[in-house]
Amino acid sequence: MNISKSINMQERARKRIPGMTQLLSKRPDMFAPGVWPGYYSKAKGVEVWDLDGNRYLEMSISGIGANILGYADDDVDDAVHEAINTGSSSSLNCPEEVELADLLCEIHPWAEKVRLSRTGGEAMVIAVRIARAYTGKDKVAFCGYHGWHDWYLSANLGTENALGEHLLPGLSPCGVPKGLTGTALPFRYNDIEELKNIISKNKSELAAIIMEPIRGAQPKPGFLEEVRSIATETGAVFILDEISAGFRMNTGGAHMLYGIEPDIAVFSKALGNGYPIAAIIGKGDIMESAQNSFISSTMWTERIGPTAALATIKKHRSVDAGKHLMQIGKQIQKGWEMLAEKNGLKLNVGGIPPASHFSFKYENSQAMKTLFVQLMLEKGFLASTLFYAMYAHKDSHVKQYLQAVDEVFAKIFTLNQKGEIEKQLKGLPASEGFKRLT
Ligand SMILES: Cc1ncc(COP(=O)(O)O)c(C=O)c1O
Repeated sequence: MNISKSINMQERARKRIPGMTQLLSKRPDMFAPGVWPGYYSKAKGVEVWDLDGNRYLEMSISGIGANILGYADDDVDDAVHEAINTGSSSSLNCPEEVELADLLCEIHPWAEKVRLSRTGGEAMVIAVRIARAYTGKDKVAFCGYHGWHDWYLSANLGTENALGEHLLPGLSPCGVPKGLTGTALPFRYNDIEELKNIISKNKSELAAIIMEPIRGAQPKPGFLEEVRSIATETGAVFILDEISAGFRMNTGGAHMLYGIEPDIAVFSKALGNGYPIAAIIGKGDIMESAQNSFISSTMWTERIGPTAALATIKKHRSVDAGKHLMQIGKQIQKGWEMLAEKNGLKLNVGGIPPASHFSFKYENSQAMKTLFVQLMLEKGFLASTLFYAMYAHKDSHVKQYLQAVDEVFAKIFTLNQKGEIEKQLKGLPASEGFKRLT
């Protein structure tokens, strides 16, 4: 397979763009350095073409979960083309933003007001600002990943590695004002005692409790309910980050499946099927605090984002995409487990089915993962240890994929027995955690 154009582009990017890409999760060294194509010329449905014209079946991160329906979905793109043809921005506001706000509140009847922005991390900054404005307090308790911004990275100020368990080990808060030290306090998912401990020491200073409704593990019975009541008792705004979980199992926030009502929920990623859009929805009095602060940006007013979101939600709802994504994801998880057993490999499989992941339970797991990516590329698949389902994935794609996985697992088992995994790699093993690119 020739990927010379893709490799040349990677060389150019390395020289010109610090860190090479704008998103850590799309850096080629996170997959298989030297063999992962890294750049695409075209994407449609479940297919992706690299710069050298090689065609792949997408069975990896699917635009890191943004392309929930599939690449270049005709229904969404038709709506977007119409928005472009009729002017994607002007001195006046687009009505689509009001329609989107109405639709999000219709889907989530507990929410009364909505602000829109364009990226997930940025939308979380807005949610945190609103919570701080509403309560007049500074500190936040959080669990999980919520973006790259100061409020979040400040958790690593003055500590060894607070974010190691929530995001990645090795993240430096370099550039984050030291004055934010002690304002973002982490607790672990399903660990109510850890949250209670934070509350006991910071009760009068807490503006918000921030978490994803679900990520890897299922919530323990009563966990989400207890967090909800702790937030109510302390007067902290309960913010659910639905940027990754939302629109993956159902049409709307995952919290609806667990019968939990937050004070604010934040969406992005799947909301626009790959077009930039994010939404902060919440209870009326809390959201109104946005007016006591200053939260405003030119590009939050363009028309493509809300147009794409409206088309995505309407299609998602009409085809019951959540059901399909669950069905596809379950097949993948079952397939990995069954094929690992068949081929004598030890795997950990986890995640909600539409956002599944596995890891090799071996000391050289990174090298094994890299070889998996490399061998799957040779068979025409973009594949890694993460799988995000798209509506465009059909049972036939899963079948094709699992057949290839069977062959690749068999090969990995044999090579591992012989101690030859590293020898087979065409490049270095994939990076683990955050590593500076030189
Ligand atoms: C739960 C969660 N919050 C926030 C973000 C950040 O969103 P973005 O990458 O759009 O800034 C992500 C991205 O992966 C996420 O999964």
